[in-house]
Amino acid sequence: MNPPTRDAPEFVPDPETLKQFRRLRDEVSRFTMEYRFAIDEVLTKVSILREEFLHLQRYNPIEHVTSRIKKPESIVEKATRQGCGASLASIREGITDIAGVRITCSFIDDTYRVLEAITRQDDVRVISVKDYIANPKPNGYKSLHAIIEIPVFLSSGPVAVPVELQIRTIAMDFWASLEHKIYYKFQGEVPSHLVQELSAAAEIAGELDRRMEQLHTEVHGSREPEEPSELPAPTGEEIVRLLVALAQPSD
Ligand code: GTP
Ligand code: MG
Repeated sequence: MNPPTRDAPEFVPDPETLKQFRRLRDEVSRFTMEYRFAIDEVLTKVSILREEFLHLQRYNPIEHVTSRIKKPESIVEKATRQGCGASLASIREGITDIAGVRITCSFIDDTYRVLEAITRQDDVRVISVKDYIANPKPNGYKSLHAIIEIPVFLSSGPVAVPVELQIRTIAMDFWASLEHKIYYKFQGEVPSHLVQELSAAAEIAGELDRRMEQLHTEVHGSREPEEPSELPAPTGEEIVRLLVALAQPSD
């Protein structure tokens, strides 16, 4: 027979424990804040690129963008798996995918173009690039991955924060999200017939990407940036006249 249960005594932390707890909480929140700011910076870069592509080429290569901060339990799990130590400093050093940004593009060509446009920026330091489009994983996974480092300017000074970029086409993204769900459902032990089906589906997704790109090129031509105009740039006076004309109400 179980002994009679008694209410647990109320937990009253002593002032020192409370102080330590608050310090830890502030440290953790500052730690994640840096990654949030880094994501904001990358998202700003992506939205500038998107608008600029649209403006210069009347074409938007970016279909959608998502971002995430790794959950604390996944950070701890990865730190344990990698044996990188549990201090915030060693986690910062050893885990480079705490901040992640995923960019989905229309066509394969665009994934390389977007990666190039981001990584050539002066404030971006490229730590590593993995091209799983040219070299897919054995299961068929395709994507362009890059770990970049960008400066986040805090009141205490700049901090270089790593962000993992994943750039892929809509077809690659569709495949990866299905594969991810299947992998989780079977906790990594995916039955072999499903592994084969996934591999075949990856082939088909690749073929779809190629055909869509061919079609697009046939209709619109190659999407190289337009040559700069030979015409002289308009003068300030001409621009003002144009703006005044545009501001006139039209009937
Ligand atoms: P992680 O420890 O998982 O971060 O892997 P890694 O450090 O070896 O890097 P890798 O470039 O292989 O993978 C990084 C991320 O890409 C993963 O966290 C996933 O989001 C994604 N990814 C990699 N491989 C696969 C895959 O086979 N299927 C799916 N669905 N996603 C993948
Ligand atoms: Mg990861």
